[in-house]
Amino acid sequence: MSLSKIAKTIKGSPTLFLNKKFAILKEKGDPVIHLGGGEPKSKVPMEAVTATIKHLNTREIRYAPVDGIPELKQAIINYTEEFYNRKVASANVMSSGGAKQAIMLALQAVVNPGEEVIFPVPYWVSYPEMVRLCGAVPIPAYPKNKSFYPQLKDIEDRISSLTKAVIINSPNNPSGAMYSEEFISDVVQFCEKKDLYLIMDDIYHRLIFDGKKRLNPYDYAKKLDDNSKLVIINGVSKQYAMTGFRIGWAIANNNLIEAMTNMQAHQTSGPSVLTQKGAVGALNGDQSCIESLRDTLENKRNLMMKMLNDLDGVKVTKPDGTFYCFADFSTFNKNSNKLSEHLIDKAQVLTVPGTGFGMDGYLRLSYCGTEQDITEGINRIRWALDPNSPAEIIIGDKKYTRDWV
Ligand SMILES: Cc1ncc(COP(=O)(O)O)c(C=O)c1O
Repeated sequence: MSLSKIAKTIKGSPTLFLNKKFAILKEKGDPVIHLGGGEPKSKVPMEAVTATIKHLNTREIRYAPVDGIPELKQAIINYTEEFYNRKVASANVMSSGGAKQAIMLALQAVVNPGEEVIFPVPYWVSYPEMVRLCGAVPIPAYPKNKSFYPQLKDIEDRISSLTKAVIINSPNNPSGAMYSEEFISDVVQFCEKKDLYLIMDDIYHRLIFDGKKRLNPYDYAKKLDDNSKLVIINGVSKQYAMTGFRIGWAIANNNLIEAMTNMQAHQTSGPSVLTQKGAVGALNGDQSCIESLRDTLENKRNLMMKMLNDLDGVKVTKPDGTFYCFADFSTFNKNSNKLSEHLIDKAQVLTVPGTGFGMDGYLRLSYCGTEQDITEGINRIRWALDPNSPAEIIIGDKKYTRDWV
């Protein structure tokens, strides 16, 4: 079969692959624990469900405006005013098939083949592949201070005459780090000065812990006019636990939004009107679900930190937000793919290898599951890795025996 040059360069999503693997093992009846998940387990807000059903009941489920139904655009405008303190016009907003597609469209609309897009390491697994889908070149920026908190110098050092855009995701998937105010301010101003697009992937911006203050990229911008190259990405997937609705959005200058809308028109015609209605229900409904999710996640983060800190040889940085932590397991195995496979095979725990995020030797562990999953999952990891633990363990109704060193 002859595939396009671009198709040949694209790898599958390791996180979606693991979801599939989990489903297969579960189906087989294996007592597997998923510590690699990327979605909160709370229920979708009732208002989202009611709004979706109400529209479904009309039995008139038609095409919608490509950039989003007016009610959704208005709800996003209100959201932007409330959480970003910025009044935007309808022409600055478009909704898309999840934050993922909004990022993809933004890249397709601004990046030419051969140009470069920079993002700090560790990065979300999809950024390099999205950049490659544009025929462009992903440029990971490794923090020189070897922490999860980048500094402007890391980005500056990766700039070339081909750089077109920078992507920043804070709080960050996989590390959970919320970048410093200094860095966000520096990067916003740097991109303005260098005339680069800056895509702020804010999908976790309300899921932050320890009373930390959310940072608003607009606060640091000096040139917020019709030519601004600052793009804000957000959506309902994570904060409202609505991953299956596939609704995200972009806020940007009107020319860019128009270009993204034109592209979306020929790709999907826009997201389903049903799930757009659902997103309106969530955005306009009772917001206490977000605080309650945030609270639950903070408690689970604390539980996971306590358990990982008790695991000799693992190095962890406390996440400031999200529902992930990115732990250094390199003392056990520098090859995180092998380590992750070992944990599935020997202890029935699913973790995401660090390679997909640009850092081998690390595993991404999620704390969006139940407390029992976290406790049991990390106890199993301890059993699989610690040679001093008992030779046998019972998982489900099966006895597992240590047959490795
Ligand atoms: C950093 C980041 N950006 C974007 C997305 C995509 O969000 P959505 O499900 O709304 O497409 C994810 C999902 O895992 C993510 O972690």
